[in-house]
This record gives sequence, C-alpha cells and structure tokens, in this order.
Amino acid sequence: MALRSVLTGVGSYLPDRVLTNAELAHRVDTSDEWIVERTGIRERRIAADDQRTSDLACEASVKALAAAGRDAKDIDLVIVATATPDLTFPATAARVQAELGVTQGAAFDLQAVCSGFIFALSTADNFLARGQAKAALVIGAETFSRILDWEDRGTCVLFGDGAGAVVLEAREDAGERGVISTFLRTDGRMHDLLYVDGGPSQTQSVGKLRMIGNAVFRQAVEHISGAMLEACARAGVTLDEVDWFVPHQANQRILDGVARKLGIAVDKVVSTVAVHGNTSAASVPLALDIATRDGRIKKGDLVLMEALGGGLTWGAALVRV
Ligand code: ACO
Repeated sequence: MALRSVLTGVGSYLPDRVLTNAELAHRVDTSDEWIVERTGIRERRIAADDQRTSDLACEASVKALAAAGRDAKDIDLVIVATATPDLTFPATAARVQAELGVTQGAAFDLQAVCSGFIFALSTADNFLARGQAKAALVIGAETFSRILDWEDRGTCVLFGDGAGAVVLEAREDAGERGVISTFLRTDGRMHDLLYVDGGPSQTQSVGKLRMIGNAVFRQAVEHISGAMLEACARAGVTLDEVDWFVPHQANQRILDGVARKLGIAVDKVVSTVAVHGNTSAASVPLALDIATRDGRIKKGDLVLMEALGGGLTWGAALVRV
C-alpha cells in the first residue's frame, strides 16, 4: 500500500507581549480605524528581547507533539520554515532539533517567506511518501518584529511574531486521511514587490522589510485563488467538498477577496489575523491550531491551506486531517 503523510497533531505559540493598534498610532502616523478597515488586524504579538525564533518554534512543537501523542524520539525530520532565522547559520531547525531532544534524521530550514509552511509541508510529504522519514515536525516560526522598519507605517502595522507546528506521520493504513495534493509556485521576476534590503552576501547586514503593498495585494488575490483551484484539480476535488479553508493570515481584505472570487462562504474561512497580524510562515499552522482547538476543524475534515509571500512564492495544500 502507498504511504500517506497523516497530520496527527498541531500546536502553536504566541509571545506574551501584545502590541495594539492604539500603541502603534503613538509611533507612526496611523490609527486603529485605518488599520482595522484596511487589514482587519487589531493587535499583534512581539517576542521578548531574549526570545529567538527557535524558542517560539520549540513552544509550538511541544504542543504539536503532545496533540499527536508523540515525543522527540519518534521524530526523524525537522523542517523550520522561516525568513527570520536565529543566525545566518546553522539552520534554526538544528537548534530546534537539539532543544527538543530529537537525535535522529535531518533538520533544515526552508525559506519561502509567507508561503514557507506550505512549501515545508509539501517537502515533508515528499520525504514521507518516499519512505525517507517516518515522522516529521513541520514548523513555521517567525520574529518579523526584528526586520520591520518601525517608521514605515505601510509595513510595520501588518506583521507580528509567532509559531505553529504540525506532526506529519507516514502511514500505510491512512484510509482517506493525509496530504492529498500540494501545489507550489515561485516567480522570481516579482522579487522587488516584497523583500528585505539586507543579507549576508549583499550587504553584510540583516536589513528591513520593504513592500509595494497594493501591488502585492493584487498578485495575492489572483495567485492564491489559482493555487487553491490547482490543488483541488490535482486531487479531483471541487471547492464545495472542502470543509475548511485555512489561508495565510496576511490581511482580511485578501481573505475576503479570494472568498468572493471563488464563491466561498466566509464562515468556512478560518480568520485569526485580527489577533496576531501577519506572522509569515507561522500563520497557516497558527490558524489551523486555533480552529482545531476551538472545535471547528474535526478529524476527517477536508482542509485547504494556502499562502503567498516574498519571492514571489505561492501555493496550496489539500489535507484530510
Ligand atoms: N496608516 C494610515 N495610512 C496609511 C498606512 C497606515 N498604516 N499605510 C499606508 N497608508 C497610506 C498611504 O501612505 C497612502 O497615502 P497617500 O494616498 O496619501 O499616498 C494610502 O494609505 C493608500 O496607500 P495604499 O498602499 O494604496 O493602501 P492600500 O489600500 O493598498 O492598503 C495595505 C495598504 C494594507 C498595505 C495593502 O496594500 C495590503 O494589504 N497589501 C497586501 C500586502 C500584504 O499583506 N503583504 C504581506 C506579505 S505578502 C502576503 O502575506 C500575502
């Protein structure tokens, strides 16, 4: 029988410090009304000075392992999707592996910015389906607060820190459950729409996030919709059969725009952006965890996840949980 990658546990973590729109309005020329109307974001979390991306990743992973009824000795693959690693190298995943006590298999970072979790899930699925690993921790973890220009009102109001993780296990007896299809796409010609203006090779610095927001917005609605349709087509599934849509939590207007374009009922779209802003690679597993813990997403449901981010990168993953 063919191996299937089954999602057996999900967990997430948000740092304690809440940064509200009202506080941001003291720092830059903006207002709670503007941010809520244009983005749906009300507050975001900021990691403590001594909290690294790996710390957030470990917190989320411990919860995902508990939800799966697994521990570190069961895991033989750790993938951390992040654009804000602890250090230039080694991989943040190496530190996460060591902190969790995983002592077998490979651990590496994956860089696809806001699409990172979808890319990491698809990568892990390929490892598991080929029998190259038995159980993976797939993590999205970010400390975007460290790469924001806090004087640029067009970007600093959008992002926050957080982490989410899933346990993915290779099973022969999965039945209907598991990763059913994924679709990934990169178009490097749109590099300049969303990037960080620093890096070890080009500037020998970390840099700050730069974005042409309205251009990204237009690309997002078009490509996210296309990716969702493609992931469904690959599985021979229609959008009507999907129980829950778990989008990258970038902006409520993007979520609404995609739902409108595809004729999806808004009450099937999980939205958590109001309480944590755009946490980049962490946002899909964060939303998945919140909607699983509050009882909306149940075992056996068909879930379609999607994202778009810097690169540009975009993709979707159809999973029966
Ligand atoms: N407060 C008040 N005014 C603002 C703010 C702010 N925080 N930010 C921008 N403005 C102003 C601009 O300066 C501009 O003023 P002007 O007309 O005097 O020049 C005006 O608002 C309109 O600017 P636009 O950029 O055209 O505003 P828009 O309606 O497009 O909203 C936003 C901006 C929210 C960034 C939107 O473009 C957006 O959400 N884009 C998607 C970007 C995104 O989500 N990126 C995340 C990474 S990619 C992803 O995750 C999908």
